Amino acid sequence: MVSLDLVRKAARLLSGRRDAVALTGAGISVESGIPAFRGAQGLWEKYDPGEYATLHAFMRSPRKVWSMLSELLSACEGATPNGAHLGLAALERMGILRSIITQNVDGLHQAAGSRRVIEYHGNMDALVCVSCWKRFPARDRCAEGGVPVCECGQILKPDVVLFGEPIPWLAQEQAEEEAGSCGVLLVIGTSAEVSPACNIPVLSREAGAAVVEINPEPTHLTRTVTDIHIPGPASEIVRILVSELSRAVLPLSETGPRD
Ligand code: APR
Repeated sequence: MVSLDLVRKAARLLSGRRDAVALTGAGISVESGIPAFRGAQGLWEKYDPGEYATLHAFMRSPRKVWSMLSELLSACEGATPNGAHLGLAALERMGILRSIITQNVDGLHQAAGSRRVIEYHGNMDALVCVSCWKRFPARDRCAEGGVPVCECGQILKPDVVLFGEPIPWLAQEQAEEEAGSCGVLLVIGTSAEVSPACNIPVLSREAGAAVVEINPEPTHLTRTVTDIHIPGPASEIVRILVSELSRAVLPLSETGPRD
């Protein structure tokens, strides 16, 4: 049962400060049918990330890594935004949420209508050649299964950040700028186990932001940087948050915040 008091406390913070940023993880897409990585049904319960999700493993045995990637790709292809993705897009239109930093590669925030999305770990929708760097939409080259190859004959890799790869430079810069200047950081559906994404809430807190965590489970953030932890599923909590804020916020033009 979601605590209405905690949601209302978070809503008061958001309507008071009005320059919130969201950091999202796999948990926000679980209700869209995409498995999370950790926890009971997590992808890493089935595939050891050390063998299936590092750049070294990909270059050494691309076919093996593609067997995991194609499972993730088909889950993403069949998924549609849930109430949490749609609610965050509504908060952006209301001028309350400024941007989203997502660790997810499923494109569901953009599909829900969010415009300012920083893809911290890339996106499954694009493939890039490891040799000539030519890019292709995933749907064009993954149909036949197996390891997709470039016109030059070399293997194609999804444009996602595997373990051992750096975060795309621009995404890192934008995320640090947004996290370091927001009034509230909403942390939704992440175990906060993976660096450097897990340092973003610390950066926000040190810059004076309030941190609101939405997750059925506590994480190590809960005891260290979180101001309000709202236990429960993201779609229900974000839906209630939007409804509370819709009552509290004066009607704004659809284009965004008042000048
Ligand atoms: N609503 C909100 N949170 C949820 C829900 C839900 N319905 N269901 C699960 N969660 C929470 C879990 O409690 C967990 O804390 O979502 C979190 C998912 O954690 P992970 O699976 O570790 O996903 P994430 O934090 O995004 O992983 C970070 O690790 O493997 C890498 O690159 C991968 O981007 C990924 C990164």
